[in-house]
Amino acid sequence: MESCVIQLTEAAKKHGNLNIRVCGKDFFPPDVFGGSSKKAGLGTPITLRVEGLPEPIETDIPTDKKTEHPRWMFRERAWTKKFVKVHNLKTDDTVRISRIDNRTYEVVPENNHGQRRPKQQLTIMGETHRSTLEERRVGIYQTHSGPTRASNVTHDTSLEKLNLNWREKDLPERERTKHVHRLHPYLGKYIPQLVEIFLRKYFIPGQTILDPFVGSGTTSVQANELGINSIGYDVSAFNILLARVKTAKYDLIKTRKEVLDILKRVRLATQADKRQASFFIEDLPKPFKEQSFDTENEYLKEWFAPRALKELLTYRHFIETGKYNYNDLLKVILSRSARSARLTTHFDLDFPKRSQKKPYWCYKHSRTCSPTKEAFKFLHRYSLDTLRRIEEFACVRTKASVELYHGDSRKMRIPHIDGIMTSPPYVGLIDYHEQHAYSYNLLGLTKNCHNEIGPAFKGKSEEAKKQYKRDITEVFRRALDVMKPGGLLVVVAHDRSNIYDDIANHIGVKVEGIVKRHVNRRTGRRGNSFFESVFIWRKR
Ligand SMILES: C[S@@+](CC[C@H](N)C(=O)[O-])C[C@H]1O[C@@H](n2cnc3c(N)ncnc32)[C@H](O)[C@@H]1O
Repeated sequence: MESCVIQLTEAAKKHGNLNIRVCGKDFFPPDVFGGSSKKAGLGTPITLRVEGLPEPIETDIPTDKKTEHPRWMFRERAWTKKFVKVHNLKTDDTVRISRIDNRTYEVVPENNHGQRRPKQQLTIMGETHRSTLEERRVGIYQTHSGPTRASNVTHDTSLEKLNLNWREKDLPERERTKHVHRLHPYLGKYIPQLVEIFLRKYFIPGQTILDPFVGSGTTSVQANELGINSIGYDVSAFNILLARVKTAKYDLIKTRKEVLDILKRVRLATQADKRQASFFIEDLPKPFKEQSFDTENEYLKEWFAPRALKELLTYRHFIETGKYNYNDLLKVILSRSARSARLTTHFDLDFPKRSQKKPYWCYKHSRTCSPTKEAFKFLHRYSLDTLRRIEEFACVRTKASVELYHGDSRKMRIPHIDGIMTSPPYVGLIDYHEQHAYSYNLLGLTKNCHNEIGPAFKGKSEEAKKQYKRDITEVFRRALDVMKPGGLLVVVAHDRSNIYDDIANHIGVKVEGIVKRHVNRRTGRRGNSFFESVFIWRKR
């Protein structure tokens, strides 16, 4: 990570004008430099994550009116005094500014000897833990009651006692992404342990719950683990494919055979020089003729290097012609590999706006990186990872039923259910089809973007919010029609605009409780910190 160290002057302490000249122009994105005054025009802001302050600072850097050279201070300065106060900094103390990604910077105090201060430590339940950047920024983690363990929750656990603010240490990534939960990236998932807590508290094995926005299938996977039947709908074809693949029952021997077989065929067809790879258990068959798979698809030609595209299209060809039983599983491996093989920068995998064909400065790795040219290495890696994950889930999978349907929840016919566990899309945040554009293009799936509720492309205007409220209300109203009185709805949402109180009123449910939790960004790389709410409603 690139960083620069600044000495605090008397003026910086009094007026906030931290002298950032030492950082140099290249340390900041070129468009951050704005006019001499707000009237003269602002630069595009960067985000400063300032240790000890609850909110990140958005600021540009002004330039001199005459010379148009940078004035070497941030335009937003009021925060400096608070920062000095929180850390009790003295004149000549030093401050380190580090670049986290192309628009996010971390500001932390150092001691007088240029050494970073030891990380703030939290004493929780008698143990001392190191906290992450995000955890130090948000005071909520400095509590003495430990966070809730999903496996301890019963019907008798009181809502008031739930502490859903897990630190990285309490709920490490490997648990949040256990078995099939990391079969494929998906932006907008909720944490399986959060789902588990509410399923354990409110439902029993043999009941049936609905997730009208099932996404990547987190609800169905967790419900199945607990012996609860589930029904899920999603408007996006790729999401339903993924959810089905996660929850399906597999003949593990056959699955392994098929996953390795297709990989072997693709290797033989595309990796003429790499036949010595040693992981195949069986003898190699006679080499396949080198085939060429072309495409007219402009998206695919734009986003993949020729070799990567050939490898992906070859894999797709063998899915189509190979007479495998588990084609959907193979499609998910193909899609995951395609995602990694796109011509993108390493720091912008979620929504890259344009393809990256040349080497670039990588903020994530602090070095020059080159976009990948091949896909086979990903096909190989994810084939083995997928097998492992499917096998792990098979150990905890129950006989509870899982039904997943592709369609618009405002219109689907819903069978009888005992309750709802869901996290709806939020207004103007994510385009759920767009995030998997590579899959739609490669797998030829039909898009249904215009039926997405609250997609980013429709914005966050007042009109968009009204429409969103109508749509979500309609979905819940239909679900309530097929529920007995007393049935429960658990809805997880980041309700920035307080829309959900109105929705509860419209559908006439009794509010049992609302539990808030901080969404811990772990690495602290992404924007503002935020809280999400778990709304617990009961049908009257
Ligand atoms: C927040 S995500 C759900 C994520 C899910 N809880 C998980 O963990 O994977 C919301 C989902 O709602 C889906 N969606 C949006 N509009 C919909 C509609 N009209 N009918 C059904 N699903 C819809 C989106 O495609 C997206 O997958």
